[in-house]
Order: sequence, then C-alpha cells, then structure tokens
Amino acid sequence: MNQPISEPLLEVVEIDVSYGPFKAIFGASFSLPRGASLALLGPNGAGKSTLARTVSGLIKPTRGKIIFDGQDITKLSPWEITRRSLIQVPEGRGIFATLGVRENLELAFGCGNSASQTKGLIEKVFETFPRLHERSGQLAGTLSGGEQRMLALARALVSPPKLLIVDELSLGLAPVVVDDVFASLEEIKKQGTSVLLIEQHVNRALEFSDRAVVMSKGEVVLEGPVSELGDMDTILIP
Ligand SMILES: Nc1ncnc2c1ncn2[C@@H]1O[C@H](COP(=O)(O)OP(=O)(O)OP(=O)(O)O)[C@@H](O)[C@H]1O
Ligand SMILES: [Mg+2]
Repeated sequence: MNQPISEPLLEVVEIDVSYGPFKAIFGASFSLPRGASLALLGPNGAGKSTLARTVSGLIKPTRGKIIFDGQDITKLSPWEITRRSLIQVPEGRGIFATLGVRENLELAFGCGNSASQTKGLIEKVFETFPRLHERSGQLAGTLSGGEQRMLALARALVSPPKLLIVDELSLGLAPVVVDDVFASLEEIKKQGTSVLLIEQHVNRALEFSDRAVVMSKGEVVLEGPVSELGDMDTILIP
C-alpha cells in the first residue's frame, strides 16, 4: 500500500504496559520516520525490552496504540505483525542447533521459493554475513554465541523486513564479533530496512542510528535526531 512519504513508519502513542500489578511503561510515545533507524537507550530496567516486545506484539499494552506502516497493529498477534514485515530478532537464539548453518537458512528461506531462488537468497545472506559463509557446513549448535546470534539475525531477514527490532544483539560478545554484528546491521540498513536498536554500546548505537529515544523508569524522557540530543553521558546516568 502506498502511504504518504511524510507518514512515520512506526508511531507509538501513549503506551502503558503492565506485568500483572507491576506497571512497567507509563505513557510512552515516539515515532520512527520511514527510512530512519532508531536507538532505544536507557539504564537497566528502564523498560526498553518491554517497549520493544510491545511493538512486536509479544506483550499487549493496557493503553495507547501502535501504528505501523499506516495501520493500527495494537491488537494484532505477533504472527500477524511479523507478516506485515515488522520483525524482532528472537531472544534466545531462534535456530535449529542440530542442523547445519546452510540448512538453517534453507529452512528459513525455502518457504514459498524454488530451490534456485533459495540458493540465490542464501548467497546474498552470505555476502551480508561473511562469517556465516565460512561456517556454512558447521552444525548451528556448535557455533560461538556471537555466530549463533548472527544466524538468528540472518534467519529473521527471510524477506527484508520494513522494520527490524534487535534487542542487545551484541551483549557479551568479543569486540571483534561486535564489529561483525554492526557491519551486518549496516548492510541490512543499506538494503532499505529500518532498525530499532537496543544496545549497551551506546556510542556505537548512536553512530548507527539517525534518531534516539531515551527511557528512564518506564517513561520516554527524550526523543529526537541523534545530532540534536547533546551529551549522552550526562543524559544516560541512571
Ligand atoms: N516478565 C516480567 N514480569 C514482571 N516484571 C517484569 C517482567 N519483565 C520485565 N519486568 C520489569 O519491567 C521493568 C522493565 O524491564 P525491561 O526488561 O523492559 O528493562 P530494560 O530497559 O530492557 O533493561 P535491561 O537494560 O536490563 O535489559 C523492570 O523493572 C523489570 O523488572
Ligand atoms: Mg532489556
């Protein structure tokens, strides 16, 4: 569907989220323009993962709405939201440990495609993730933690999503693997996918993103273009 260019890709409006009696998000609002990427920042427990999981439909808000690509997705199931091309890289690893790297990709990319189309798509994945190419014959369960996350990320790209949500993809990874993860994300962005990034490496997240949203204690306390946000070190002190 053709939407006006000026309309945001994602609009979160006055969202409240609770876990039983515990309220985790208080009236959070932010928007993500088309073609932009956004860093969701804030101290531990600020509500970043909760907000991300609410956007991808895994948790339902008790108030407010979420508009994606011109449609109200607030009440849709995670499956219906995924079908609209809003994908969150699964927590845990979301891969088949006893199958090879290539087989994992074949299962993800084979659905609805001919064998030769699938092969072409997987070659493209290997260009984006050279490390997975090197390891294409290895059992997924024997990959390192970082490599397994890359495979989960690659599987999430079955058809390039309009919006990809990544929550702490680089957590605990060696610096060289973090470099690989960011190189892959840059490649994905170049292909036209917007990324909503939650990331401990704040400076890297800001380098990667056009906009940032800062959360504290369940509230959005700051939102705007990265170039206008000022000194993050003072903003992010819990
Ligand atoms: N399943 C749950 N049940 C109850 N409370 C939860 C649940 N998940 C998260 N919370 C609480 O909600 C608040 C926000 O948690 P959330 O995981 O969204 O924070 P976060 O910003 O992602 O933190 P971190 O940087 O540590 O990942 C925290 O106080 C947390 O304890
Ligand atoms: Mg989190």
